[in-house]
Amino acid sequence: TITPVILAGGSGTRLWPMSRKSYPKQFVPLLGERTLFQDAARRMSGSSGSVHFAKPMVLTNSLFRFIIAEQLAKEGIDPEAILIEPEGRNTAPAILAAAVHLAKTQPDAFMLVAPSDHVITDRVAFHEAIAKGLMATARGDLVTFGIQPTRAETGYGYLEIGERPDGSGMPIALRSFVEKPDAVRAEEMLATGNYLWNAGIFLFAVKDILAAFEQHTPELFETVVQAVDQAEADLGFLRLAADPWAQADNIAIDYAIMERADNLSVVPYGAGWSDLGDWDSVWGHMGPDEQGVSVAGAATAIDCRNSLLRSETEGLEIVGLGLDNIVAVAMNDAVLIADKSRTQDVKKVVEALQRKG
Ligand code: GDD
Ligand code: MG
Repeated sequence: TITPVILAGGSGTRLWPMSRKSYPKQFVPLLGERTLFQDAARRMSGSSGSVHFAKPMVLTNSLFRFIIAEQLAKEGIDPEAILIEPEGRNTAPAILAAAVHLAKTQPDAFMLVAPSDHVITDRVAFHEAIAKGLMATARGDLVTFGIQPTRAETGYGYLEIGERPDGSGMPIALRSFVEKPDAVRAEEMLATGNYLWNAGIFLFAVKDILAAFEQHTPELFETVVQAVDQAEADLGFLRLAADPWAQADNIAIDYAIMERADNLSVVPYGAGWSDLGDWDSVWGHMGPDEQGVSVAGAATAIDCRNSLLRSETEGLEIVGLGLDNIVAVAMNDAVLIADKSRTQDVKKVVEALQRKG
């Protein structure tokens, strides 16, 4: 079986005002009725073909623990554990803590590490890719999932492959892993055609990822082992020990392990994947009409093009007239009106509001 390890500690500031510090994007219904977190938990539950999921582990901080428990309960999903990080130290310590915890009860388990803020439209294809990944974990590899790149994105990791995917979706040995290149390097990698984007989803045996952390980050390994050994049960949650945790390096798994390990494979993944990072991508996933207009809630668009109108407040009608390339999102305490080509910059709005106090 595979234990899903769901990362749910992020804040998602580019989707303000629907994504809030105390209630970030993965916990709000951005598309359809369920939240991204609920979708993630559901697609990694039960059985499908040769893939059998055990109860999930969720990694988060104190702020979100009750939201998580409630959203899992709504889906009828009983977690293996909800681990609470005393403070966010990025993904390497979080994933290592999950592995150390799991090793105590299921040393032979496999872990599927996945963010809770991705959109994966084809669940069957996702499970098939995982089944293929298991072939590479059987030989001790750490498995990544690779997306065909479409632009020189600098916010992703890049996976160097020696051979082009043959369409079978079988795992390919990785030559190298490059996390978040600068723009020049990203252009170069895109031009060679020998790179895939890292989807940010990882599959490995508990013992293999523990060995990798022990080898590549021995200090972090010791620190996190202590934080898990001294963890305290707290109302059904497991709170990692704050003192050792505060000593843990603040580092992403991509830098800590993936850029250094030489036992990496990639499963090419061609079905839909996106990290729902900004309003422009939400607009696309909402299914814009022929004029390119996506609306939700009490919203009306008249003679508009290429725009997103969304009211998230009962009784608050939002009407657009003659808009082009505009995003308007209304909550009861805040309204965003933005140029649709500037949705990456919404995080600056949040920073500016924080400075204002
Ligand atoms: N629990 C917990 N604790 N979760 C965390 C923490 C933490 O300290 N830090 C980040 N996360 C969660 C985020 O909420 C997100 O779901 C996931 O871990 C990945 O972190 P991001 O900060 O979103 O990483 P990224 O998007 O910059 O880069 C990663 O994902 C890309 C694909 O979306 C990398 O793996 C890239 O290589 C990859 O291309
Ligand atoms: Mg991300």
